[in-house]
Amino acid sequence: TAPIVRTLAELREYTTAWHKADEVIGAVPTMGALHQGHLSLVRAAKEQCDRVIVTIFVNPKQFDNPDDLKNYPRTEHEDAKKLASLKVDVIYVPNPEEIYPDGFATTVSVSGLTDMLCGAARPGHFDGVATVVSKLFMQTRADKAFFGEKDFQQLQIVTRLAVDLNIPIEVVGCPTIREEDGLAMSSRNLLLSDRSRVFAPILAEVMGDIAEALNKGEAMGDVVPDATSRLLSVGFNEVDYLELRDGSDLSLLNSMKPGARLFAAAWLAGVRLIDNIAV
Ligand code: PAJ
Repeated sequence: TAPIVRTLAELREYTTAWHKADEVIGAVPTMGALHQGHLSLVRAAKEQCDRVIVTIFVNPKQFDNPDDLKNYPRTEHEDAKKLASLKVDVIYVPNPEEIYPDGFATTVSVSGLTDMLCGAARPGHFDGVATVVSKLFMQTRADKAFFGEKDFQQLQIVTRLAVDLNIPIEVVGCPTIREEDGLAMSSRNLLLSDRSRVFAPILAEVMGDIAEALNKGEAMGDVVPDATSRLLSVGFNEVDYLELRDGSDLSLLNSMKPGARLFAAAWLAGVRLIDNIAV
């Protein structure tokens, strides 16, 4: 099994040796509770890099709700087993003080991209993500970092911050992995009750129907009210957003255009599900 490293000093022993040997280092940042979506990033990293570091850190700064942080699934033992079969080189599970030592006072904040979608719905969330990801980029000194399109806005934000801060890392985006019924894989799916799990795929289904309508020339204004009612009628409690946006600058669109993506976030029995698809 891969060594689990909990201090930056120990991580550096590995990365220093790898850099000396001119090996390409890949990093896969995660919060654990690993599923096939995460593992697809690890596989991409294994293909493109000589060495792979998977990081597991449930980052308190990106949670806007203390219960959400407390309830977030933690499955380190199972995670390590899954990673062993993929032959990663190191699992970095930093002690919290390696990330946020006493006196820690810096925030990385990416403007513009963070104002909308999940940024609007979850104040401070993306500052927490941008800060921890910047630290993980510096700590792993990776050449490439792998992120999922599942969190498309996050992928855009981390790409931006690496460029803006001259962090010498290439951010690689990887496609969303889904369950057979279409539900986008997520660690949060573990929090769904059996009953809610039955209705969860309707989010992806509704998005597919909207995409079809948009491709027939309908506008978002024509289809969103019905789509929202449908979600609420099957048991979703609230729809945070259901929006069409440009896939490169995330500007709001009302009708189909090349490069458009549909974004959704909705609450089902206390669990917030997000998804996005190219239209
Ligand atoms: P987490 O939700 O654990 O996700 C880690 C990575 O896995 C992210 O890049 C995410 O987009 C990707 N991922 C999750 N579900 C996926 C799926 N179904 N298909 C493909 N990729 C998927 O995202 C975070 O953690 C955190 O915000 C983090 C970047 C680690 C910073 O704390």
